Amino acid sequence: MNWNNRVVFLTGASSGIGEALASALAAKGAVLGLVARREDLLHEIAQKCDEAGGKARTFASDVTDATALRGSANQLREEFGHIDVLIANAGIGGNNAETRDLRPEAVKKVIDINLLGAVNSVHAVLPEMLERGQGQLVAISSLAGIRGLPKSAAYSASKAGMTAFFESVRLDTAGKGTDVTIIQPGFIKTPLTAGRHNNMPFLMELEEAIPLFINAIERKKKFAAFPWQLATIVRAGKIFPAWLYDRIASRARYRE
Ligand SMILES: NC(=O)c1ccc[n+]([C@@H]2O[C@H](COP(=O)([O-])OP(=O)(O)OC[C@H]3O[C@@H](n4cnc5c(N)ncnc54)[C@H](OP(=O)(O)O)[C@@H]3O)[C@@H](O)[C@H]2O)c1
Repeated sequence: MNWNNRVVFLTGASSGIGEALASALAAKGAVLGLVARREDLLHEIAQKCDEAGGKARTFASDVTDATALRGSANQLREEFGHIDVLIANAGIGGNNAETRDLRPEAVKKVIDINLLGAVNSVHAVLPEMLERGQGQLVAISSLAGIRGLPKSAAYSASKAGMTAFFESVRLDTAGKGTDVTIIQPGFIKTPLTAGRHNNMPFLMELEEAIPLFINAIERKKKFAAFPWQLATIVRAGKIFPAWLYDRIASRARYRE
């Protein structure tokens, strides 16, 4: 895939995976629409993208605001003609006492941002992609969405929902020129995982993970999961009977 002048609408661009993807794609010549709430950080990242050889525009939008998000996508389309790739990456871990205590407001916040924020992101780009007969939707989901993890009901549910949503969209848009790529990472060192005391098996550095994200997008993979060691274990767990899964998962101290 030639990224030169490809227009990418990237949510959650102000830190972690989003920030690193922005830099890497800018270095390949992409045009980036950077979305997040922290405008000051977005400006700094946009400047780095410009210096790296790309073009970047910033949109201080909250993904839970469907109208604002569509407005941001419209602005990007007005300036560059179209959007080639959506990367729905904005998300929160929701690793706090309120979420673990299953307080409805705390759980709702995780679902609103991680799942409905991604729905809003698709709504912001898909109609025009279908009209044009080309485009790619990329979901940054998680291995945590494959089965429920302990102490992660909200996060696991949000990522399971995200994976299912994008898979359904893929079926509904088949043959219309668009592609859907669902990426399910394990643990990556970012602000989201910083300060965690839980065991995080096969924790990856951002530098080793970013090429895997980009490879999955470039090859238009339907699914990509990494690191392979954790992906293999989690995928195998999918076919375990509940009694066996419960025994193993309740002992494991990993999450996200
Ligand atoms: N790190 C991991 O181990 C890991 C593993 C699997 C999946 N993931 C997924 O990867 C994605 C990125 O995570 P990360 O590790 O890079 O975390 P991060 O460094 O905390 O970044 C999260 C990004 O999402 C943005 N965001 C959060 N709420 C938002 C909202 N309401 N509207 C717009 N933007 C919002 C944040 O920007 P603002 O705060 O400025 O809005 C930030 O740019 C998430 O979806 C996460 O679930 C991460």
